[in-house]
Amino acid sequence: MNADAKAYDLLARRVPHHSLEQAFYADPAILALDLEHIFYRDWLYATPACGLPKPGSYVTHRVGAFPLVIVRGSDGAIRAFHNTCRHRGSVICKAASGHVPKLVCPYHQWTYELDGRLLWARDMGPDFDASAHGLKPVHCRELAGLVYICLADEAPDFDTFATQAGPYLAPHDLGNARIAHQSTIIENGNWKLVWENNRECYHCGGNHPALCRSFPDDPAVTGMENGETPPHLQAHVSRCEAAGLPSRFHLADSGQYRLARMPLKTGARSYTMTGNAAVGRPLGRVPLPDAGALLKFHYPTTWNHFLPDHSITFRVTPIGPQQTEVQTTWLVNKDAVEGVDYDLKTLTEVWEATNDEDRRVVEDNQVGINSPAYAPGPYSPVQESGVDQFVDWYCATLASRLAPLREAAE
Ligand code: FES
Ligand SMILES: [Fe+2]
Repeated sequence: MNADAKAYDLLARRVPHHSLEQAFYADPAILALDLEHIFYRDWLYATPACGLPKPGSYVTHRVGAFPLVIVRGSDGAIRAFHNTCRHRGSVICKAASGHVPKLVCPYHQWTYELDGRLLWARDMGPDFDASAHGLKPVHCRELAGLVYICLADEAPDFDTFATQAGPYLAPHDLGNARIAHQSTIIENGNWKLVWENNRECYHCGGNHPALCRSFPDDPAVTGMENGETPPHLQAHVSRCEAAGLPSRFHLADSGQYRLARMPLKTGARSYTMTGNAAVGRPLGRVPLPDAGALLKFHYPTTWNHFLPDHSITFRVTPIGPQQTEVQTTWLVNKDAVEGVDYDLKTLTEVWEATNDEDRRVVEDNQVGINSPAYAPGPYSPVQESGVDQFVDWYCATLASRLAPLREAAE
C-alpha cells in the first residue's frame, strides 16, 4: 500500500474526540503528505506587509522544499516568487530580509526586475528569449496589511476569507504598522502539536504565569462553543460591536479560520505583566481600551492577536516531522518610538515567555508520543473543543484530498 492509501486508512479509523495516532505526529511520510496536500495547496500567511516598507524590500521564506522570496515592486505591489534562478537554479535572495534595487542571482548575475521579469543575462546568444525566463510567480494576496501566499498552480478561493476578515481587521490599521520585534524559534515537535497546544488553554494555568495575568482562564475564549459567541461573552461582543468593532464569533464553514473578539481579564488592556497598555501611541482606531483581543486563526499557518494598542502575528512552518518554526511578530504604530511610546521589554516579555513555555510543553508532548506505549487520548469536552476542531479540520482536509488518490489506486 502506498503512503496515500495508508494515511487514508489511518484517518478512517480515527477515534473521534481523541488525539491522533503516533504516525501523524512522527512519521516523515505523513509530513510529506501534509506538505503536498495542505501546505502546497492552501493559502499560507507569510509576513506583515509592513515588513516590506518600500520598493525593493524583500523577505525570504521556505515552505517544505520551496524557497520563496516576497518582494515589494516599484509599483508598490507585493509579489511572491520561487527563489530559484531561471538560469541554473541558484537561490537568488539568501538573507532573511533586505532591500535591493533588482533581484540579482549571486551565481552568474542574471538580473531580474522586482516584478520578476528577467532584465539582463550575459552572453546567452542571439536566440535567447529573456521573456521566457522570468521568475516563477507564487500566488500572493495582501489582506489588510497581512500577506498570504499560495503555492498551488490554481489557488483556492481567498475572497470569502478576505471579505469576512477585512472588516474585523480594518480598525487595527495594520497598513500603518511597523515591526517592533520579531522572534523565530524552533520547537522540536510536529506542527500539529504546535496547533493543538495553541487551540486550548487547559495548559495555561500550569504553564503560563505571565500570560495568565491578562488572558482569562475561560475555555470559551479559546474553544469553539458550537461555533457561536457563548452567552456570557455576548455582552462584551455587543459593546464592541456598538462601538463599531466587528467582534462576533465567526467560524468558516470549512473550519479553516475563525474570528472573535474576546475580553481579557477584568481590568487588563494588553498582554503585559501589569495588564496595562504596552504602547502609548496605539496601532489602529479601537475606540475601547478594554476591547480585549481580536483572535484570528487561519489554518495551517497563523494565529493572531489584535489588541487596542498593538498586534501580534504568529507564523507556523513545519521544518521536519518533529520540528516546527514559530515566528512571532510584534506590530506597533509606525510612528511609535521605542523608549518614548513603548518599552520593548514590556511589549514583548509576556509572549517571549509564553512562546518558550509553549515550546517546552510541545517538546514534552512529542517525546511522550514517540513512546511505543503512546495511545491516542481523549480531549476534554470542556477545555479542548478548539483542539478537537483543529484536528477535525486537519483530518477532513487531508482525507478529502487523499480520497481521489485512494479511489484511483483501487
Ligand atoms: S544560476 Fe543564476 S545566474 Fe546562473
Ligand atoms: Fe500556551
